[in-house]
Amino acid sequence: MAPDAPTAPPEPERALTRRRLLLGGAAAGAGAAVLVGADALLNGRPTGSADPGGDARLNGAETVPFHGVRQAGVETPPQAHAKFVAVDLAEDAGAGQVRRLLTLLSDDAAKLTQGRAALADSEPELAVVPARLTVTFGFGSGLVERVAPEAVPTWLRPLPEFATDRLRDEWSGGDLLLQICADDPLTVAHAARMLAKDVRAFGGVRWVQDGFRRAYGSEAAGTTMRNLMGQVDGTVNLAPGTDDFERLVWGSDGHPAWLRGGTGVVVRRIAMDLDAWDRLDRPGREEAVGRRLADGAPLTGGGEHDEPDFGALTPLGFPRIAEYAHIRRARSEDPDERFFRRAYNYDLPVTGADGQDAGLVFVSYQADADRQFVPIQRRLDELDLLNEWVSPIGSAVFAIPPGCAEGGFVGETLFAD
Ligand code: HEM
Repeated sequence: MAPDAPTAPPEPERALTRRRLLLGGAAAGAGAAVLVGADALLNGRPTGSADPGGDARLNGAETVPFHGVRQAGVETPPQAHAKFVAVDLAEDAGAGQVRRLLTLLSDDAAKLTQGRAALADSEPELAVVPARLTVTFGFGSGLVERVAPEAVPTWLRPLPEFATDRLRDEWSGGDLLLQICADDPLTVAHAARMLAKDVRAFGGVRWVQDGFRRAYGSEAAGTTMRNLMGQVDGTVNLAPGTDDFERLVWGSDGHPAWLRGGTGVVVRRIAMDLDAWDRLDRPGREEAVGRRLADGAPLTGGGEHDEPDFGALTPLGFPRIAEYAHIRRARSEDPDERFFRRAYNYDLPVTGADGQDAGLVFVSYQADADRQFVPIQRRLDELDLLNEWVSPIGSAVFAIPPGCAEGGFVGETLFAD
């Protein structure tokens, strides 16, 4: 155990100690207590708050377990809203501090995901609607190096450069990822603020990417999402619970011991030139992907989930799904070159004549980014008609450590002997 690792006093005492740590002393602690009531703070629930659990019809009351062998937020059916927060650790933050930070974050995430106030929650009323909140932690190489430099997986590094990349520092890299997802944007914002407060003493926020899908309840559960180009996006994907998913997402071949039960994630911010896309006619748009816009079915017929016929020809003898079509390029003959996509849309306000700042927060989980993701990205980089309208502007790779049991913290395996 690292010398400055916290011991584990009984819960109320621990809460007080950590509250002091968080708020920087007794005075700040007292201020917070006056605001919301010390009792409420220590017990994790504000007094007089509405309890969404009282009405089983409300999705706001739904929780996803935080503790478990695997972290939540990967297999969890995608929530409507997401915030991806990348943190840079302070230069002098060593293993002991990383451990303290992860303990604090796990503790607060465990509470918030179950609809309870975070420690020193300044707005505890906002915590009582978990709305399937999940917090998933990802470690960049910068974090792993501080704790166990010999245990950085080979693929945990920036992706190679691609010709179509237009990467910006402001959307790339990071030592620690907090992936915060829920069906309620207020829940997401509150959780993100509480967790960002935990981070302050140990580093700073590097980038934040907000993402959204259809609002909760707008469509039947399980409907494939649409992106801002209007396409059905996510049809051909690994399915949680299948052998392929176990092997290609959770498989631990070649992983260092601390990562067993975990996986890896690639987060790419991909800008869309929607004004140019607007100028393309409907057949052109469908050719670019190889699927119909109306229902996401392959251009060779059938329904959304029917297999495309890549051998089919037009009457003139051209492939019905063009050589440059996104779905043809994104599919490899090697069945190991697959991953699990869990993307979100982004759309930032713009001023002046620019008109748009929209795209996809492309998120893919795989056990080994070098082996599974890079070859596909390379194929798309070489040829993919979609490249005319999309450009990667951010890129980051993180390891997703296994989950933890109650009383533990995410990342504890990194500190094991
Ligand atoms: C803004 C950028 C992108 C857009 C708009 C986009 C859109 C789509 C659409 C509409 C589909 C067809 C429906 C489906 O099966 O999901 C698709 C399939 C796919 N995309 Fe993308 N995509 C983008 C970027 C990427 C990237 C960066 C990768 C990986 C490097 C990727 C990998 C895939 C894969 C593996 C498939 C399934 C192919 C198959 O049928 O086997 N996509 N994408």
